[in-house]
Amino acid sequence: MPDPCTLVIFGASGNLAQVKLLPALFNLDRAGLLPPGLRLICNGRKEYDEASWRDYVSEILARRLPEPPEAGSLTRFLDRMRYLRGDLRQHETFQALGALIEDNAYPRDIVFYVSLPPSVYGAVVDALGKSGLLDEAQGWRRVVIEKPFGHDLISARDLHARLSRHLREDQTYRIDHYLGKETVQNVLVFRFANLMLEPLWNRNYVDHVQITHSETLGVGSRAAFYEHTGALRDMLQSHLIQLMALVAMEPPVSMDADDLRDEKVKVLKSIRPIHPSAVHARAFRAQYGPGHVDGEPVPGYLQEPGVDPRSVTETYAALKLYIDNWRWRDVPFYLRTGKRLPKALATVSICFKQPPKQFFRGSHIDHPPPNWLLMGIQPEESLRLELTIKEPGLEMNTRQTSLDALYRCEHHDKTGAYEGLLLDVIEGDRSLFLRYDEVEQAWRVVDPVLSVWASERDYIPTYPAGHWEPEEVRRIFDREEHRWRNHLEPEK
Ligand code: BG6
Repeated sequence: MPDPCTLVIFGASGNLAQVKLLPALFNLDRAGLLPPGLRLICNGRKEYDEASWRDYVSEILARRLPEPPEAGSLTRFLDRMRYLRGDLRQHETFQALGALIEDNAYPRDIVFYVSLPPSVYGAVVDALGKSGLLDEAQGWRRVVIEKPFGHDLISARDLHARLSRHLREDQTYRIDHYLGKETVQNVLVFRFANLMLEPLWNRNYVDHVQITHSETLGVGSRAAFYEHTGALRDMLQSHLIQLMALVAMEPPVSMDADDLRDEKVKVLKSIRPIHPSAVHARAFRAQYGPGHVDGEPVPGYLQEPGVDPRSVTETYAALKLYIDNWRWRDVPFYLRTGKRLPKALATVSICFKQPPKQFFRGSHIDHPPPNWLLMGIQPEESLRLELTIKEPGLEMNTRQTSLDALYRCEHHDKTGAYEGLLLDVIEGDRSLFLRYDEVEQAWRVVDPVLSVWASERDYIPTYPAGHWEPEEVRRIFDREEHRWRNHLEPEK
């Protein structure tokens, strides 16, 4: 059990706190994983007194948890909390925060979770620094921030320089919630606990790798954020490039935070830069138009509330990347993400090369499909290896089958990404948080694409909501036979 600390949530009445943080903290508390002395200070601008804040949190938990919380666990959780109303643009709010901790003798090891728009990270950390709240004389201080860290390479550098005036790297916890997903962590276990994979895991045997994240949801109420972000920044620069680094990295010296991140950075540094003249051959963007999802009509992106009707913000982005190192040189890694696609799916699909000789030519088997290794990240959590076998009978026919390793059985409880990440912050384990150099390298990869797209304001290809991406995306494929893998079921 970690030592007790004080956890301050800035933006506690906002969307992230409602949807993820408060339910995750409650789940940890109910499971007995929070130290009894841990205190929660929830800051927001809305007017709540202690009683109405307790009602608000109870209502959120009842709405967000699969089953309503039991009275005993709920009371214990609420008893840990204080609500502190205050505008973070005012120095007095930070003074009041310091006094609250002081007067109530709250633990002096403190986590500040900045659950606010990225544009205010710099100002909040400046204010924390100036008010002495980051001073570690009486206990450690950690600050948690959410992606996106910057808007491009230059702004990421600026933000880092600003935060570094008050925070050391080991006090800064940059969350990428994908690294909190168990199936993403399983990529590492699968790779490094099964020696039989190692000889195959390279350019000699792997034809190409696909990393897909598709959603059926649209932009919803997040237009103000998304209009300036787009799919490439929102998903690809962060979550998908991280996933790619885990698939491609060398075995680390140990699983310690820095050893692990050193290896990820090496992969990111080896990604071949995309020259501006090559952006069209290496990247593709599109935007959803009106269509149908699950049989229901849905508006196009341009009709969503808060979206500029002339917007060319991409809701779909695909990239082809090469990792110019000994293991992966010339193996294409195709990454794609999109909103309002036909199904929600996150997978890593590894396509192996064909055998050097087709022994079964002249029989009924002319060209068997390649082997695929499919890692289902969500909603299906599985590992699947597709193989070609003989069809029973006198004739030489084949069919595709698969070796399946379901990651989770029904009786296994599912832990959300935030539960594990919050516990890691409290325990001071930084392995699943991004180090600044990872962020910088990921921006370096996408920056040329962002610049070219920013200059092309007149046209963006579209796809009807509920359909896969337009065919034009095929221009990024290296070979005619490459095509997106949209499912985990065996190929026919
Ligand atoms: C977030 C993006 O980081 O990830 C969202 O901002 C996206 O736009 C979400 O919908 C997807 O996360 P998950 O865990 O649902 O795949």
